[in-house]
Amino acid sequence: MPPKLKNLKLEIRKNIAYITLNRPKHLNVFDTETLNELEKTLISLENNAKVKVVCLLSDHDKVFTAGANIKEMNANNVIEAKHFAELGHRIAQKLETMPQPVIVGINGYALGGGVEFACACDIRIASERAVLSQPEIDIGIIPGWGGTQRLARIVGPGKAKELIYTGKRINAEEAFEIGLVNMVVPADKLNEAVKEMAETIASKGKIALFEAKKAINQVSQSPLDVGLRFEIESWSTLFETYDQKEGMGAFLEGRKPIFKDK
Ligand code: CAA
Repeated sequence: MPPKLKNLKLEIRKNIAYITLNRPKHLNVFDTETLNELEKTLISLENNAKVKVVCLLSDHDKVFTAGANIKEMNANNVIEAKHFAELGHRIAQKLETMPQPVIVGINGYALGGGVEFACACDIRIASERAVLSQPEIDIGIIPGWGGTQRLARIVGPGKAKELIYTGKRINAEEAFEIGLVNMVVPADKLNEAVKEMAETIASKGKIALFEAKKAINQVSQSPLDVGLRFEIESWSTLFETYDQKEGMGAFLEGRKPIFKDK
């Protein structure tokens, strides 16, 4: 049962879930209420067998999100700050490890937690108007929702240090050059580009798709030998599936496969 939502919108069309950040008056800032909604939404989607791909978007034409709520954080003591960090971490972890691939569409400002959540997604598509930054240093803190770890794994520790030490903003083109986003598209084509990518991925067999995500996630979780062993196990178990037989059979018969996700 999908949760009741106030600060997000959730639409499921065909086998793709679209989550839209929907606090336009507050620059899509993440307060505890919004974070709780997002966590519940992701949990409901990871358990929804019909959903093959999840997309994370914003309706606002100037921001993806201005990050965590500074007003709320400003009132936090150390224990409350820890709970707030843990909530953000659970969400990033969910985006990263939920079975479905997650595609994020970034338009306008993606600041702080916005970059951190984007880094936990599988594929990042930016509009030409995207501006990304980890500006926490300017408010006397460091990234607290995984930014010191995931950003460094994506762009390398040297570039992550530059971005986090200076808090500087980079545009979509720079983000593409350092490998922080997969592609850059015109702003008015962003949602379409996300949808197109989601539909392409959703047309594949679900079992192989989810195994691919699990196997690639080993890169940041395991040493190489463990990841390679994981791949062997994962690859070979796919030979029990209908989709493997259909995929290979269709290739050999010169036709398109019809995957049944089993
Ligand atoms: N939290 C709370 N309020 C925020 C906010 C945030 N993250 N970002 C902006 N606002 C508020 C501003 O205080 C302002 O409120 P008032 O209208 O009441 O004065 C309102 O939103 C509009 O902001 P600006 O006047 O600054 O608008 P702008 O168009 O000139 O700039 C902006 C927009 C570029 C987003 C700018 O507000 C900005 O740089 N915000 C800072 C965001 C930031 O530092 N985010 C990181 C937070 S930490 C984090 O996410 C990770 C973590 O550690 C967990």
